Amino acid sequence: MFPETRTRRLRNGKMRDLVRETSLSADNLIYPMFVDETITTSQMTESMPGVERLPLSKVADDAKEAADLGIPALILFGIPSHKDEHGSSAWGDEDIVQKAVREIKSELGKDMLVITDVCLCEYTDHGHCGMVNFEKGEVLNDPTLPLLGKTAVSHAKAGADMVAPSGMMDGMIGAIRSALDENNFPDIPIMSYAAKYSSSFYGPFRDVAESGCCFGDRSTYQMDPANSDEAMREVELDIMEGADIIMVKPALPYLDIIYRVKTEFRMPTAAYNVSGEYAMIKAAAQNGWLDEKKVMYESLLSIKRAGADMILTYFAKDMARILK
Ligand code: PBG
Repeated sequence: MFPETRTRRLRNGKMRDLVRETSLSADNLIYPMFVDETITTSQMTESMPGVERLPLSKVADDAKEAADLGIPALILFGIPSHKDEHGSSAWGDEDIVQKAVREIKSELGKDMLVITDVCLCEYTDHGHCGMVNFEKGEVLNDPTLPLLGKTAVSHAKAGADMVAPSGMMDGMIGAIRSALDENNFPDIPIMSYAAKYSSSFYGPFRDVAESGCCFGDRSTYQMDPANSDEAMREVELDIMEGADIIMVKPALPYLDIIYRVKTEFRMPTAAYNVSGEYAMIKAAAQNGWLDEKKVMYESLLSIKRAGADMILTYFAKDMARILK
């Protein structure tokens, strides 16, 4: 009790450093990259200041910049020149993501882990993450699974170090694990977007990746933000199906979920600090309302403190620069 106990004793200078419980390291950052088959020069994005869409010719340079900053991994999203009902530009050996993976791996080899987002929404003309029955206005689960398996295998063939399925189809982790194993990729890990919420914080990403839906929304497959127990079931199922790393997405409004997932499963846990979380800080900083660097640091630190081992964030390079 006061006055014997004074918590302020440990709050100053080196003493404060000594008792710090959580720290950020570039080792924990994953850098998201957008490669666009339709462009020849880098394009700034409107809703995510500082994030660019890159032509194939620029991906290796950008990845090298991240590697030089000490970032160990990136995650690739593709924007194809051709979209159709089945998302058929997602799995060809000469499609954009497969080319970008080869480009980056041939430049950087073991110096950069290349993770690929495995989903169909950027490749389908209707913008949904799976096959669609238009008459019923339904997104079909089971017919989507082999396509996801095929896509993951094509990424592994191109040299991807890990695949990250984000489509929230039931059984997708098992389907991808079997497809990888059958095609001689038993050592390629899966980072599952296990607890992915149907969130309005993805808005800026959908502008950048041109992946908005034409009818309905993604709430028939992504989770209800009101649910927490359900996230535990999603994570448990994905672990049983073979997920190596599990992800919670978004991050900041879902710190309770990150905490629960880490505490209950003790698995390598990732959190996705999504486009809307990034855009809010950027917008407030541009208005002079928030100190961008400090708020970025505090946000990422808080995600780590909640239990995330690694963070996918558009701030990856900025953060790594500060840590350096
Ligand atoms: C694709 C995918 C999305 C994001 C990552 N992978 C969009 C979505 O589900 O609508 C969102 C990332 C972000 O907002 O930063 N399924």
